[in-house]
Amino acid sequence: MSFTLRNATLSDIPAITSIYQDSVLNGVASYEMTPPGEPEMISRFSTITGNGYPYIAAVDPEDNLLGYAYASAFRTRTAYRFLVEDSDLSGAGGWGQGIGKALLAELISRCTELGFRQMVAVIGGAHPASVALHRAAGFEHGGLMKGTGFKHGRWLDTIIMQLPLGEGLTTAPEPGLYPDTLYRG
Ligand SMILES: CC(C)(COP(=O)(O)OP(=O)(O)OC[C@H]1O[C@@H](n2cnc3c(N)ncnc32)[C@H](O)[C@@H]1OP(=O)(O)O)[C@@H](O)C(=O)NCCC(=O)NCCS
Repeated sequence: MSFTLRNATLSDIPAITSIYQDSVLNGVASYEMTPPGEPEMISRFSTITGNGYPYIAAVDPEDNLLGYAYASAFRTRTAYRFLVEDSDLSGAGGWGQGIGKALLAELISRCTELGFRQMVAVIGGAHPASVALHRAAGFEHGGLMKGTGFKHGRWLDTIIMQLPLGEGLTTAPEPGLYPDTLYRG
């Protein structure tokens, strides 16, 4: 399937909501159990993009959304400000066709350019495809949190994977390259 990447916009929200709702209802990547509607997804989108984080869409030649990825704050205590968490979702019909890999590569590139120094993946349900996707992108295993979720009648393990961005830990970060409206304390 041919696809291109572009910045996601508010016009993508219905399709993003649909992909995410399917994941919430049927998957283990998200620990949310009640699918959020479009107003809530607009609010989340606006917070992420309003703070300067990338939100990327993969679309087919007719501009139909196939998948999306975004970066967001891992936690908002100030010392975490050079760390981003990634989220990646491909629509169920498009798995295994390189969409997730392309989205994640673009997200890594954008976050590196923005000056972030680490990216963390919090992989719900220890989802094997997601672990493989991140490993292929250079992430290393950072930790296993056993039984941290309970969904679809079973306990879920959460895997942490991590990728250094840019100069990583080897130099001090440049001040001011993060969304300083977001971080507190
Ligand atoms: C994980 C997910 C984003 C991957 O997206 P995708 O578009 O199917 O991924 P790609 O086709 O680009 O494949 C990328 C890599 O992922 C791995 N992968 C993809 N599907 C896989 C599967 N079913 N089993 C094992 N590995 C798989 C492979 O390593 C693959 O690289 P390769 O083709 O070079 O071997 C997608 O399966 C998805 O949305 N899953 C549910 C939600 C989820 O787990 N999101 C991640 C939250 S952190």
